[in-house]
Amino acid sequence: MQLPDFQRLRRLRRTAGIRSMVRETELNATDFIYPLFAAHGSNVKEEIGSMPGVYHLSIDQIRKEVEEVTRLGIGAVLLFGVPANKDHLSSEAYAQEGIVQQAVRAIKEENPELTVITDVCLCAYNPLGHCGIVHEGEILNDPTLELLAKTAVSHAQAGADIVAPSDMMDGRIAAIRAGLDREGFLNIPIMSYSVKYASSYYGPFRDAAHSAPAFGDRKTYQMDPANAREAMREAAADVEEGADFLMVKPAMAYMDIIRMLRDNFDLPIVSYNVSGEYSMIKAAARNGWVDEQKVVLELLTGLKRAGSDLIITYHAKEAAEWLK
Ligand code: PBG
Ligand code: ZN
Repeated sequence: MQLPDFQRLRRLRRTAGIRSMVRETELNATDFIYPLFAAHGSNVKEEIGSMPGVYHLSIDQIRKEVEEVTRLGIGAVLLFGVPANKDHLSSEAYAQEGIVQQAVRAIKEENPELTVITDVCLCAYNPLGHCGIVHEGEILNDPTLELLAKTAVSHAQAGADIVAPSDMMDGRIAAIRAGLDREGFLNIPIMSYSVKYASSYYGPFRDAAHSAPAFGDRKTYQMDPANAREAMREAAADVEEGADFLMVKPAMAYMDIIRMLRDNFDLPIVSYNVSGEYSMIKAAARNGWVDEQKVVLELLTGLKRAGSDLIITYHAKEAAEWLK
């Protein structure tokens, strides 16, 4: 009888039982953060054309959605607002009766246990669709910080558990931290969109949030997709300014960045599986080209294996159902 002179890795793949014993990565519904788009009005449930299965929801509909999200065991929701009015000061972003502020209060009333994260940015709230104040075609950094801090404070006052700035202005974590602390919100964490690339994968979201820039693009504040070392500097700056979570966005084309942050920082790492990534899978699945359930679970497992502790994903509800 011949002795084996090579490793037989297939031994640990022989049965489903053994495969499950040696599985290194496990996906749970509690890893997911589900984005919600809050809109004015009542009884509004309007599907976003470029994002099948994702809706603009009025507050009454959000209450129902919260029940569903809770039943599925999803850990948290991330709230975006579709404002009634846009103006140059992005007033509704920090208005007490703004759509996000109302939605936060409603969700907390419906289920105080569900973690509510709010997106902090100005782009959906001003007619130019940029993430900061615009002056003569330029996106001004420092004057924007005050409005971002004001927005974050108004979300905390409404009852948000975590605020998530997505604007990519320099110094915003420090400004928001100072604003929150000054108002007594010392214990409200900041989930920073630390490493956010100027990506074409946001296309469907801009439809959803009506937040496409009216002129130019976002390349003077969002990162160049070609850069990895720069991601380290963004993350390090946010840590120094007091961020509590670090996010990488988008996810699929940036798995190396997720891994790099995981290996170099000890904060929780969040990846954002963005709108374009979602819609591509939806479209392929609708054509019968891929098995939606299998590719989605494979993708989310890959994001976790790459180093994500948490995943923001429009697939959250379906994935949670499949994992049951
Ligand atoms: C706005 C914002 C964007 C997303 C989250 N917050 C779009 C952008 O920066 O253009 C993208 C989300 C997605 O594509 O799913 N600051
Ligand atoms: Zn923005």
